[in-house]
Amino acid sequence: MKYRIKQLLYALFYRSSKKEHDFVANYLNDIEKNLFYRLRGSEQGHSIRVAKRCVKLKDDSEFIKAALLHDVGKVDTNLNLFMKSLLVFVEKFNIKISFSKTLISAQESKNSHSERGAALLKSIGCSEYVINLVKNHHKESTDNKDLKLLIECDNKE
Ligand SMILES: [Fe+2]
Repeated sequence: MKYRIKQLLYALFYRSSKKEHDFVANYLNDIEKNLFYRLRGSEQGHSIRVAKRCVKLKDDSEFIKAALLHDVGKVDTNLNLFMKSLLVFVEKFNIKISFSKTLISAQESKNSHSERGAALLKSIGCSEYVINLVKNHHKESTDNKDLKLLIECDNKE
């Protein structure tokens, strides 16, 4: 719960800075940047924090690219801050959401964003390495060392 509150506060008060744009530009090409900047500001902030945490563990350009783009499957969905908070609430209390098409759509987007992100990255020519990390970043367990690092960093931000 503390983690959720931290995430909510970051999302509410996140403002991007030139330093962060420079960080993104260091790792993403123009097509990847276009995709990245279609994310909501709060998701951009989360992804940058995850990527900066990842840099400390493994400063490799493809690894950091995957960290920046790991949630890119959320572009053009209705997974906004309010919906995400509502989903956490309904999942915690096991509330049926069949009454709301909007909530169902948000939940589907949440559940499928890894796959969707991988497909988007494939369509713009990212490497299999990046696609694989993005596709699996919500896996419960893995033997892939880099994926473990990404999941660890994602879970802390
Ligand atoms: Fe994710």
